Amino acid sequence: MPQDISHGKPIDDAPGVIGVITPATLRHHPEAGAIEYPPLPDDIASNPRSGFVRPAGWFRDGEARLELEIGCGKGTFILEQSGASPATNYLGIEWQYEFYAYTADRLRRARRGNVRMLHADASEFLRWRCPDATFDVIHLYFSDPWPKAKHHKNRVVQHRFLREVWRVLRTGGELRVVTDHDELWRWDADHFAFWIRAGDVVIDSTDEYDTSVHKSAPAAMEGLPRPAFELAAFTPPEWVGEGCVVGTNYEKKKCVAASKEPHACVLKKLP
Ligand SMILES: C[S@@+](CC[C@H](N)C(=O)[O-])C[C@H]1O[C@@H](n2cnc3c(N)ncnc32)[C@H](O)[C@@H]1O
Repeated sequence: MPQDISHGKPIDDAPGVIGVITPATLRHHPEAGAIEYPPLPDDIASNPRSGFVRPAGWFRDGEARLELEIGCGKGTFILEQSGASPATNYLGIEWQYEFYAYTADRLRRARRGNVRMLHADASEFLRWRCPDATFDVIHLYFSDPWPKAKHHKNRVVQHRFLREVWRVLRTGGELRVVTDHDELWRWDADHFAFWIRAGDVVIDSTDEYDTSVHKSAPAAMEGLPRPAFELAAFTPPEWVGEGCVVGTNYEKKKCVAASKEPHACVLKKLP
């Protein structure tokens, strides 16, 4: 758990307006009434699509472009990006309650009408809650590296995750990834290598890919086109200042301060 990141200031995640209430969040806010995210139905095991919700329906303009940020932390990226592109809807997901509420409160105070925050595990959300072709872009910035081998299963990038990313992206949609963690980048590249066009270069290293992470790939890729994604260069958003790639809190604190340039790439969904 993070320490008191709000420094004692009252926080309002504005359920029903900014915050999307899950059954778990309701335990913190039993008074919140907006049930936009019902519990998983009983037949979820036999009917995996029965838990799908319609994220576009959480926004005033349900037909607009929709982008997702996974792991918003203190929320600087989603706050700035949603202000720079008011015609696009943004959904942020954060599984640590304090960060979720802190970011939702920032968005509420900035009166963002095109952003919602969801308190949930992003991988589970994509797999069990998200219909096909939901998002135009998925942003994954400075994901937790989980450095110990026994924790690698907690990393967001997994073959199963990439399968869901492909499914929930619209055609031509993009997964944008940035990290400063060399070993996590290697892991990402080892996974991406399976999904992109042979010969694409993902990493700035001459090492061979580590095939040990590929064991589960064939199962996760079953029935999908190969390649499933095209690799592209990462372009920073225009509002991001000199010396940054995405301008998140983490990047400013850890990369800019240490003069470390993060790794970045884009995976574009192929039909
Ligand atoms: C290192 S922080 C980076 C935060 C932010 N992207 C930044 O660059 O400042 C990673 C964030 O991702 C969140 N996170 C990690 N795994 C997640 C998951 N599966 N679902 C939702 N949030 C997740 C963590 O709680 C944390 O806030």
